[in-house]
Amino acid sequence: MYDRRKFISFLGKAGLGAATLPPFLTSCGSTTTPSETFQNVGDEALRKLKDLVLENMVASDKDDLLLVSGLDYHTVIRWGEQISDNDTFGFNNDFTCFIPLDENDPTDGLLWVNHEYVNPLFVSGFDQSKYENPREHRTVEQVDKEMYAVGGSIVRVRQENGKWAVVKNDPHNRRITGQTPITLNWDSPIEGKTTVMGTNSNCSGGITPWNTFLTCEENYDGFFGETVYDENNNASKKPSWYGWEAFYNYPPEHYGWVVEIDPKDGTAQKHVALGRFAHECCTVYELEDKRVVAYTGDDRNDEHLYKFISSKPGSLKEGTLYVADTDNGKWLSLDWESQPVLKEKFKDQTEVLIRVREAAKLLGATELNRPEDIEIDPITGNVLVSLTNNKGKGDFHGSILKVEETNGAFDALTFKASTYLAGGEENGFSCPDNLAFDLSGNLWITSDMSGSSMNKEDGPYMPFKNNSLFVVPRYGKDEGKVIRVASAPRDAELTGPWFSPDGKTLFLSVQHPGEQTVDKANPTSKWPFDADGIPKPAVVAITGDLIEKMNQLRQIEAMES
Ligand code: FEO
Ligand code: CA
Ligand code: CA
Repeated sequence: MYDRRKFISFLGKAGLGAATLPPFLTSCGSTTTPSETFQNVGDEALRKLKDLVLENMVASDKDDLLLVSGLDYHTVIRWGEQISDNDTFGFNNDFTCFIPLDENDPTDGLLWVNHEYVNPLFVSGFDQSKYENPREHRTVEQVDKEMYAVGGSIVRVRQENGKWAVVKNDPHNRRITGQTPITLNWDSPIEGKTTVMGTNSNCSGGITPWNTFLTCEENYDGFFGETVYDENNNASKKPSWYGWEAFYNYPPEHYGWVVEIDPKDGTAQKHVALGRFAHECCTVYELEDKRVVAYTGDDRNDEHLYKFISSKPGSLKEGTLYVADTDNGKWLSLDWESQPVLKEKFKDQTEVLIRVREAAKLLGATELNRPEDIEIDPITGNVLVSLTNNKGKGDFHGSILKVEETNGAFDALTFKASTYLAGGEENGFSCPDNLAFDLSGNLWITSDMSGSSMNKEDGPYMPFKNNSLFVVPRYGKDEGKVIRVASAPRDAELTGPWFSPDGKTLFLSVQHPGEQTVDKANPTSKWPFDADGIPKPAVVAITGDLIEKMNQLRQIEAMES
């Protein structure tokens, strides 16, 4: 297990950007590395930090992005805006990730943004509420518009006079869509193809140690359906919600993967070795010998937590996929060759990876309450996993799971699992989703109560009102408390928290404001309050004195040690 102080002092000795931590952990992101190289804030400022009591925002159902005092926001980009003369920003932005173009300049770089799914009412004008059998009334023009609005965007953004703005027509700016050809990083074709069409359901993601983006296909069955198997192993097709398969004959097996995007030219590949399921995210750690460990969870009721360990440096193909038995603290190998129970059921490793949910269950993997985001605690090395909820099992408010790998080794095959933080009224939050650590190692959490269950009288979510952003301070008077610092517009979810390399900006997505709208002329949200009155998903940049203070909070411990 990691000794916390040893870990910190190791980081201290290593300094920023060095040794076993991959550069992304030290330079930017949702897991920033606490720095030992703080400038001393001085005795007076330190006293103020020690006395600091944070404002805990009262839950609100107001249709606005509300922030506690000490934080400000400005909108960086919203759905429909031109990123170049040829392309526009997609819908329902989730994961956001910033990579500086020059590592010495934290104010200029490339922002990757996931576009998870679309609301047809706004994107293609298809109003399914009008029809008894909506699928019969779809047109290819509508489906094309929807396919264009999912996937992801690469946009160059620059900070000038304290505000981030898109550099329109920068040569890096491009869209990855539901129709972009993407190669499979695998030796065998899948459903006869080695290159597949497009990506969809791009929920959260990650970054690789070699500075490429990972975007994860989550609820892929909503777009092209799913192949399901009965007890006799007979296959049948389950239709999708969007009905795209009626227009494009793309097999379900081409979706449900972790997708890697090269920021330089937008080339993309799907990593079959990481398995096929509703990937929320993919969190990659580089070992000393440059092999990588990738954590990824399956966000569906009673599904599982996975970890891939590569056998070669920098590979997301050569290696072994494991699934977690959290009851016994074991990573179970999904290797067809060495698991007789898998050999009996599946014809080869490719089939195991395509039907990995079934394979995991055969091995006795633990059913979890919808694993969402995964982040590595930069101070302890613990792996935190949001388990958002599982209403079928009576878990309405979720929790955060802590995985402590044996001896702190990310390639260990045993671990200890425990609950780190429970959702519910006592702790003031429900349904944890995305996680991020700031420069002091404070934990930031976003919540994802569904639009259909929020703010319902007598419902379990009523006390929490709108989805929110929280911070759990690591030091000081509020140590360990869950403090609400932002409240989302109506029906929206705050997603993709990502710190700029200097820790001073928190990029955040505002996803699906007004999602419950049935009449476009009367939307349930009007955020961001454009003249057309239409709600729009957007990425905002949050800055302010409070973020600076949170980044300095570790001084309290540094001074005392
Ligand atoms: Fe798209 Fe699991 O949230
Ligand atoms: Ca999510
Ligand atoms: Ca979610």
